[in-house]
Amino acid sequence: MHIGVPAETRAHETRVAATPETVKKYVTQGHRVTIQSGAGTGASFPDEAFTAAGAEIVDAATAFGADLVLKVQSPTDTELPLLKRGATLVGMLDPFNADNAQKLALAGVTAFALEAAPRTTRAQSLDVLSSQANIAGYKAVLLAATLYPRFMPMLMTAAGTVKAARVLILGAGVAGLQAIATAKRLGAVIEASDVRPAVKEQIESLGAKFLDVPYETDEEREAAQGVGGYARPMPPSWLARQSALVHERAKQADVVISTALIPGRAAPTLISVETVQAMKPGSVLVDLAAGRGAGVDGSGGQRGGNCPLTEADQVVVRHGVQIVGYTNLASMVPADASSLYARNLLDFLKLIVTKEGTLNIDLADDIVAATLLARDGAVVRNA
Ligand code: NAI
Repeated sequence: MHIGVPAETRAHETRVAATPETVKKYVTQGHRVTIQSGAGTGASFPDEAFTAAGAEIVDAATAFGADLVLKVQSPTDTELPLLKRGATLVGMLDPFNADNAQKLALAGVTAFALEAAPRTTRAQSLDVLSSQANIAGYKAVLLAATLYPRFMPMLMTAAGTVKAARVLILGAGVAGLQAIATAKRLGAVIEASDVRPAVKEQIESLGAKFLDVPYETDEEREAAQGVGGYARPMPPSWLARQSALVHERAKQADVVISTALIPGRAAPTLISVETVQAMKPGSVLVDLAAGRGAGVDGSGGQRGGNCPLTEADQVVVRHGVQIVGYTNLASMVPADASSLYARNLLDFLKLIVTKEGTLNIDLADDIVAATLLARDGAVVRNA
């Protein structure tokens, strides 16, 4: 089978969907692999490394014209016509974006959106949300440490003692837990909050304090259990109590990292404008939900994240607080982000490509069924 790997062209995207390591495996399996010239440059994989692994370096049209196209992000409107009708496309295709799914369907491709894979043990090795969120959580702390005008660790020097930074982490999923671990390595004192009760132990085992907002009704308790490992929107009663606690803790914090997301919906507002006003001058808020919040004007998506003052892909100073709104932190660690993503793809392809090198879409496989987004000109809705 001809496997094509185009260069990513969307803003701020530096990753690539295959690495010399995975190309070598595809070639050993008998596939022809074409890589668009320069596709790996942003991730420090030069064309020569791909050639040495057995790939051919080609132009965009050839890479997009493959039987199976591997992408990081969904193709743009100008790239879509380059795809062959009947080809298979695999990537992070934004499955909750109905317009995009429709465009993929109209392009006549069989499209798999890896973000939609179930969070099961069998799906772990191809879990792109985890592999990339882990990197984002790590980078968020490093960005905060760079902007924060003080030290992160407690230091005793001849000129006096420096206090450890206080870090508040909101949302302790994959990104939040990695942020805790990274901040811990830098010597910070950490508190973390989440709606799901299951994370209390994980937060504490990483050496952070769990900020408890006890449930007061069965409705709150039930919502907190979530579905399939994901959070569900919490009742307003619980969110109001959480907001009051976050307000108090954020006032004391030097760094706040917010990672709270609810799949398919706007990210919850956890840090209000009043909370930002109450935060210390020079403190840093890294909002990993940037661009996915409800926005100050409720326009949905273009502005705001877990904080309504966040601006997508900008660092802004509001009320003396530095608010970081980068939307693609994984792309800031492009070599490892690509390596892990490329391995996720390699593992996913084992489910849809036979040993003989032919395509086999088995809808009895829960991972294949959940990720299939478009086929035969129509959007497939499994959710
Ligand atoms: P996510 O990126 O969708 O959300 C991030 C975090 O925000 C979650 O922990 C969520 O509970 C939290 N959150 C949502 N609303 C909140 C609020 N109002 N206040 C505070 N926190 C809030 O989630 P992610 O990181 O993709 O994964 C969620 C969970 O899924 C993991 O922690 C894990 O339990 C499970 N999972 C299971 C896997 C597997 O078994 N293969 C793989 C990866 C994750």
